[in-house]
This record gives sequence, structure tokens and C-alpha cells, in this order.
Amino acid sequence: MSASFSSFLYLISAICFILALKGLSSAKTSRAGNMYGMVGMAVAILTTILSPSVASYSYILLGLVVGGGVGFVIAKRIQMTALPQLVAGFHSFVGLAAVFVAASALLSPAAFGIGIEGAVHTSSLIEMGLGSAIGAITFSGSLIAFGKLQGLIGGKPLSFKGQHQLNAILGGLIILLIAGFVGSQSHFMFWALTFVALALGFLLILPIGGADMPVVVSMLNSYSGWAAAGIGFTLNNHLLIITGALVGASGAILSYIMCKGMNRSIVSVILGGFGAEATASGGASASHEDRPVKVSGSEDAAFMLSNARSVVIVPGYGMAVAQAQHALREMADMLKKAGVKVRYAIHPVAGRMPGHMNVLLAEANVPYDDVLELEDINSDFGTTDVAFVIGANDITNPAAKTDKSSPIYGMPILDVEKAKTVLFVKRSLASGYAGVDNDLFYRDNTFMVLGDAKKVCEEIVKSMD
Ligand code: TAP
Repeated sequence: MSASFSSFLYLISAICFILALKGLSSAKTSRAGNMYGMVGMAVAILTTILSPSVASYSYILLGLVVGGGVGFVIAKRIQMTALPQLVAGFHSFVGLAAVFVAASALLSPAAFGIGIEGAVHTSSLIEMGLGSAIGAITFSGSLIAFGKLQGLIGGKPLSFKGQHQLNAILGGLIILLIAGFVGSQSHFMFWALTFVALALGFLLILPIGGADMPVVVSMLNSYSGWAAAGIGFTLNNHLLIITGALVGASGAILSYIMCKGMNRSIVSVILGGFGAEATASGGASASHEDRPVKVSGSEDAAFMLSNARSVVIVPGYGMAVAQAQHALREMADMLKKAGVKVRYAIHPVAGRMPGHMNVLLAEANVPYDDVLELEDINSDFGTTDVAFVIGANDITNPAAKTDKSSPIYGMPILDVEKAKTVLFVKRSLASGYAGVDNDLFYRDNTFMVLGDAKKVCEEIVKSMD
């Protein structure tokens, strides 16, 4: 295959990736977006495999079989709720790959066409230094993010005195080492900058608390994209540069959107401290035990729902855990048949990743037109008869508006409290991800329907039959 033909095919796959991102930006076009992504990746892999510079197929085949096999098993087994840590785990591999490519280029520059040992092009040295540093930070940072999300390391922010100063010193040291490496081509400098970057990755992510982790994962996603673009420069592969830049830019935009959804600045996320352990107070003024709550059974809930004119369903993380989306849709269908106006309200950070609820509702074939974003439905709660909050908590907590000391203060919330009646479907009075009590549980117009989200929906369906 000639170089110009493979460049043309790479261009096709780059266009497919851009179309994939465009498609994935809305639930209606996401299937097509995924299709574009798969076609683009197939074209990219085939073009690379058929490139004349490939000397032997044995390692490529081995990589495809082992990597593809592991990926297949993980994709089959993974729970939707474990996706954030899976993504973090995958990012660590991208970071490590960037370090390996830079190290390979250091050890055999001639094989990469970037000069010979001791006389490597300056631009390639800069790319190798930057690629290895960003890759190492991504690798170690993603490992910590994985450990925290998987519960292997406590979600509590781990901070110590002078940590920001230490991080700043290490950041400065990395820049000096890159400059030294570019000037001297010293292997020692290369490995030193890589190890300092590894340490910085650990130190940057360790202090970040649980609730901010998804933002961090998205930021690491962005870093891994830039690391991949760095590899692209070293390998002189245009597709990798474009794809890396796309991932880098989209990860950064996603982090921004999430921060906006939680009303937090990227800087305050990085400087850490939010989302401590579930013991954090803020919000409710007294503990669960000494405040009365109204508890309702599924039959009563069914009665309230079927006698309503309008119902707004607010799904959250607990719906995902319980996999209640199908039973929920069945319940909503029955209500609609009975003439009740039913809609779904989606908070931008409901669940544990962007679009978490949209994906689950789409899987259950909930019509897209019934699903509304926070800004489109929030003003309707005042005229809603029943707000059916299923497995959601923080995203409805009024402490975000009223309690300046609360860790979720400033986050926009769904105003379910304004509905005539609020039904909370959850297993207990426990707090949500941010570890904050929810004052709404104790309000006069709230009924707690305690139980597993899926079971409760099934029972309500039975009662309405
Ligand atoms: P949460 O506030 O975490 O509340 C989920 C609730 O679901 C829990 O209180 C839990 O109560 C309940 N639950 C768990 N398993 C259940 C089951 N099987 N059946 C019924 N209920 C169950 O979730 P949310 O309201 O979706 O808010 C999302 C949180 O994640 C926010 O704090 C947000 O800032 C954070 N976050 C999200 C993102 C993205 S992008 N989505 C990013 C960063 C941070 P019980 O234990 O009593 O059942």
C-alpha cells in the first residue's frame, strides 16, 4: 500500500472519528455515532496492518488476540455501574503505552527515523520528553482513580501539609528535566523525568475525594488523548495525532460540562477536598433517628401515582444499581395508558458518569421525547402532582441551595420538593455519593417507599394491574 493511499485511508478514519463524536453527543444519534467509531477504528487498524513498514505480523497478531480477548471478556462482564473505574483502568494503559513508545524511540531512534543515538532531532526529543511525562502522570493518576472508584483505596481525600507546594516543585522539576534531556540526550534525564512524573500522578490524584472522581477520570481521559497525540508525533502517525487531539479536547470539554453540572471549578476539583466519606454532615439539621418520616408501601405508592394527573420520574444512581429501568418503563407505560402525563427529569450528574441515566432509559426503550434535561423541566415541578425519585438523592438535595457549609453547595438540583407529593424509592435513609443527609426525606409532602428500586417498581406494576 503506497504512503499516499494509507494517508488517504487515515483521513477517512479521522473523519469517521469526528462523525462518531458528533453522533455520540445526542441520544438519538448515538447508535450511528458508535457505528462511525467502529468503522473508523476498523479502517485505521487495517491500514496500519497493511502498511509496508510492518516487518512481521507475529507480534501484531499476538497483541490483537491477547488484547482483543481481554477486551471482549471485560466488555461482556462489566456492570454499567463499574464503567468509571474501567475507563480509569483503560486510561492507565494509554499512559503506559505513551511511556513505552517514548522509551522505545529513546533506545532505537533509527528504527523510528528520528536520527541516531546521540544525534536525535530536537523536535523528537521534545515530543519524547513531553509524551513520557504526560503518559507517566496519566498512568499513575489513573491507577489511583481506579483504586478509589473500585474501593481498593478509601474515597476520603488524602491531603497533607505542603502538598500543593510539593506538586508545584515536582511540576517545575519535570520541566527542567525535559529541558535537560533535550539538551543532553541523556538516558538518565529521560528516566528521571519519567519517575518524577509517575510520582506527581500519584500525588495529584490521591488528595481528590470520591464525588469528584468522575471529573478526574474525564480529565485523565483528556491527558491520555494528549499522550496519544504525543506518541503520534514520535511515530509520525497523523491519525494518532488527530485522534489523540480529539480525545484530549473532548475529555477537557466533558470535564468542564461535569464541573458546570456540579457548580465546581476545575481548579477546586484539582485542589481537592470535596466528597469526603459518607460521614460528612451538612444538609439535615438532625440525625435520622430523631426525625419522623412518612413511609409508604408499594400499594399506596401505586394509588398516588395512578390518581395523579402528572408524574415526573427522577432517576439516579440507585436505579442503575438495581437495573430498574425496564420495570420503571413498564410502570410508566401503565400510567400513560391510564391517562397520566409521565416524563423523566435528567440531572447532568445523575448516576456516576455523564449520560448514565440517558443510556439506561434508552436501553429500556423509553421514548426520547419523554426525557427532559434539568433546565427544561425544573420549572414544571410546581405543577407536578407526583415526583417519583427512584434511586436518586444528592441531585434533589435542597442543601445544595441553602447550606453554604454543605459539600454540594452550589450544585444545581432538580426542584422535586415543589411537587405536590414526593415519593423517594430507596432502600434506607442513607445518604448519597457526597455523604450528605437529605432534608427532603423529613418533609410533610414526602413519602419514603423503602426497598430495592426494581422490586418496588415491579410491586407497583402488580398493584396497578
Ligand atoms: P446518589 O446521591 O449517590 O444517591 C443514590 C441513592 O441510591 C443512594 O442514596 C442509595 O440509597 C440509593 N440506592 C442504591 N442502591 C439502590 C437500590 N438497589 N435500590 C434503590 N435505591 C438504591 O445518586 P444521584 O442522586 O444519582 O447523584 C449522583 C452523585 O454522584 C452526585 O453526588 C454527583 O455529584 C456525583 N457525581 C456524578 C457524576 C456524574 S457525571 N454522573 C460525576 C461526579 C460526581 P440507599 O442506600 O438508601 O438505597
